[in-house]
Amino acid sequence: MPILVVNVDHVATLRQARRGHEPDPVTAAALCELAGAAGIIVHLREDRRHIQDRDLELLRRTVQTHLHLEMAATGEMQAIALKTDPYMVCLVPEKREELTTEGGLNCVGREKALAEYIAPFHQAGMLVSLFIDAEPRQIEAARAIGADYVEIHTGHYADAMDRDIRATEFGKILTGIDLAQKQDLQVNLGHGLNYVNVAPFARVPAIREYSIGHSIMSRAILVGLDRAVKDMVEILRGFAD
Ligand code: PXP
Repeated sequence: MPILVVNVDHVATLRQARRGHEPDPVTAAALCELAGAAGIIVHLREDRRHIQDRDLELLRRTVQTHLHLEMAATGEMQAIALKTDPYMVCLVPEKREELTTEGGLNCVGREKALAEYIAPFHQAGMLVSLFIDAEPRQIEAARAIGADYVEIHTGHYADAMDRDIRATEFGKILTGIDLAQKQDLQVNLGHGLNYVNVAPFARVPAIREYSIGHSIMSRAILVGLDRAVKDMVEILRGFAD
């Protein structure tokens, strides 16, 4: 049964538009859990454009399921993760000028440095995931680094307007999942997934978790957060049939 981990960054994006107090991503996370989310994920960005340190601290104390922290592989974030002790950390590339995470982390040639970087997380009992493109050499590097999970970047698939390009990107993801499994890596998917484009993954039982934010929050504005999360949980539940 695949698991839905809801990203609540965009609740914070709306709050930060006015630099005020509402809507609160901590309250949103609790509602997501009540609606059936099996985990909550936030990306504490270096520029703090959405999630704030205060959010992460409160979420660590209030999330009843699993808290995942998405972060860049910097010294500052390493210290915050060790202090916060989330269930899982997911390393992502980060550029200040990007609108959202634009591609996977480059692990090739950085195996030793990244292995050293994640070692304290493992010592502290956290799981480590690397957000990567579905490229064989990135998957092999993730294995060499000693990650527990890879989160395969689905953004290129999700963004493809052309049917043939989308099919090619889908095929690359399937090949990546297969290779990751052979390397004893658990597989999560994330980025750009919505209520329609997630469906083709139904026939891939190896996928452990789906990390989804924007489409759920977009639907929530129109129909409410409870219904938006339940609709996605329902779709993923259908995958198990
Ligand atoms: N996974 C990663 C690594 C991400 O950076 C993001 C976006 O913050 C997501 C998943 C969620 O993507 P989306 O908001 O498009 O569902």
